[in-house]
Amino acid sequence: MNVFIAGGTGFIGRALTLRLKRDGHSVTALTRSLDKGRSLLGVEVDLLEASASDEALIAALERADAVVNLAGEPILGGRWDEAKKRRLRRSRIDLTSSLVDAMAKTTSPPKVLISGSAVGLYGNRGDEILTEASRPGAGFLADLCRDWEAAAMKAESHGTRVVLLRTGVVLGRGGGALDQMLPPFRFGLGGPLGSGTQFVPWIHLDDLIEMVAVAIGEEAFAGPLNGSAPNPVTFRDFASGLGEVLGRPAFLPVPKFALKLLFGQASSVLLDSQRVLPKRAIELGFGFRFPDLKSALRDLLLD
Ligand SMILES: NC(=O)c1ccc[n+]([C@@H]2O[C@H](COP(=O)([O-])OP(=O)(O)OC[C@H]3O[C@@H](n4cnc5c(N)ncnc54)[C@H](OP(=O)(O)O)[C@@H]3O)[C@@H](O)[C@H]2O)c1
Repeated sequence: MNVFIAGGTGFIGRALTLRLKRDGHSVTALTRSLDKGRSLLGVEVDLLEASASDEALIAALERADAVVNLAGEPILGGRWDEAKKRRLRRSRIDLTSSLVDAMAKTTSPPKVLISGSAVGLYGNRGDEILTEASRPGAGFLADLCRDWEAAAMKAESHGTRVVLLRTGVVLGRGGGALDQMLPPFRFGLGGPLGSGTQFVPWIHLDDLIEMVAVAIGEEAFAGPLNGSAPNPVTFRDFASGLGEVLGRPAFLPVPKFALKLLFGQASSVLLDSQRVLPKRAIELGFGFRFPDLKSALRDLLLD
């Protein structure tokens, strides 16, 4: 199978590319930098520069059986001023629209589009159980995800199956949230963020990659798909689990006002509560290798 990945150089994209290559698929990655793409993905992945012509993009999509869109300006890192907000939206919504428009111009559109989205769609929902059937929440991230998903869904009108991958906090080695959280925890200076009562919908990177690989191949996967583990935990339990696996105390809370001072509006990513369940994946028989947090953390930090 030929898989076209936008954002293939990213934390999730690199792991997916590796997995697809291992399974014998061909991968073309869309990247803003061919040098970065070559050094991160190696010579066996075809690269297309994001600034390439429409014709080149259409030709690459013509060859693709599946498209996975994981590109996007980092959500954390920098305050959400107007310029950052524009980049966050453009790099997701406009890029998705360009991909969908180009897919429509192929003679035979790709069979499936796995389009990135995030649990941020649900907004701040306390301990309410959230499934794919739950309504979207409010706020900048929720609006961004809703518009991002709407742009992706347009591919359905050209006969492409669309999966909206509502990803939780991805735990893996060599990047992502865990890499950023580990330093204070290793020094025994970690602890809950804010009140610690907010639910964190997390997922082990291996399970997310498996979910994408299965969703590419199985027609039953269509529409919203929560990419999170079946056992979301509160941030307090997340911090104590991380401390326990590392053998370090993890009681030092970071107060809400400090996070707001540091990150401004972007602190909502750390403070909002989303008790998300992967109902659709479970209904479709998807088996999680790491359903509980401790097993995931032990695999990532001790093995
Ligand atoms: N990691 C998580 O925990 C998590 C959780 C929920 C949702 N997600 C979403 O899942 C997607 C992939 O996540 P990730 O962690 O793999 O992200 P990542 O490591 O930041 O990689 C995203 C890729 O997007 C491209 N990109 C970055 N800024 C861009 C911009 N301004 N315009 C166009 N392209 C840009 C980059 O590729 P090039 O430099 O090669 O162009 C980068 O490699 C993202 O949309 C992210 O928001 C991730």
